[in-house]
Amino acid sequence: MNMIAPSLLAADFGNLEREMQWFNTSEADWLHLDVMDGVFVPNISFGFPVMQRVAQLCRKPLDVHLMTVQPEKFIGPVRDLGAAVMNVHQEACTHLHRTVQQIHQAGMKAAVTLCPSTPISTLEDILPDLDVVMLMTVNPGFGGQKFIEHSLDKVRRLRQMIARTGSHALIEVDGGVNRQTAPQLAAAGVDVYVAGSAVFGKADPAAEVVELKRLTQA
Ligand code: DX5
Ligand code: ZN
Repeated sequence: MNMIAPSLLAADFGNLEREMQWFNTSEADWLHLDVMDGVFVPNISFGFPVMQRVAQLCRKPLDVHLMTVQPEKFIGPVRDLGAAVMNVHQEACTHLHRTVQQIHQAGMKAAVTLCPSTPISTLEDILPDLDVVMLMTVNPGFGGQKFIEHSLDKVRRLRQMIARTGSHALIEVDGGVNRQTAPQLAAAGVDVYVAGSAVFGKADPAAEVVELKRLTQA
């Protein structure tokens, strides 16, 4: 069963409690939280004080996507949020294997994200250790960007690499996921779909989640 992970980045930050009300009763699977530091990416989003409040309000697993340098510094604080998934960028981790081990020791699933220009081959040796590989399908830093088309081939090649290495990693995609791109991504082999602007901000976001789920059933 494919999973939908709405991204809080596109939510109404003046009404987080109301946003969490529709979210908690929807068919959404994970809440995706985008942390940006203004260094790894050219934008700043929100940090731990905001996420702590969101974690109190949210009744579903948290998928924390760290777009920061040295994300290993935040393993403890992300664990303390009660997050299910800690998502770090390959490009931000000098000792990725160690960081993945530390995420597991903290009791969370380890997700590693690749920017559009980073080849999947960089993960080949670590793939059996990963719970999730997330492919950025836009350049990280902003919501509402256009989907990068050649990501579809990257997903297909990652699906083959996962099968070849006997890995159980899920494939997650982030950026430009909407009613048009979701079916194409499903055909390429994606498991988890992050969607910001295609869900939050719509008149009936819960209905958008249902529609994205329907469109991604194989
Ligand atoms: C971008 C973030 C995404 C963002 C996606 O850097 O990682 O999670 O919220 O937004 P949409 O779905 O609008 O492309
Ligand atoms: Zn994200």
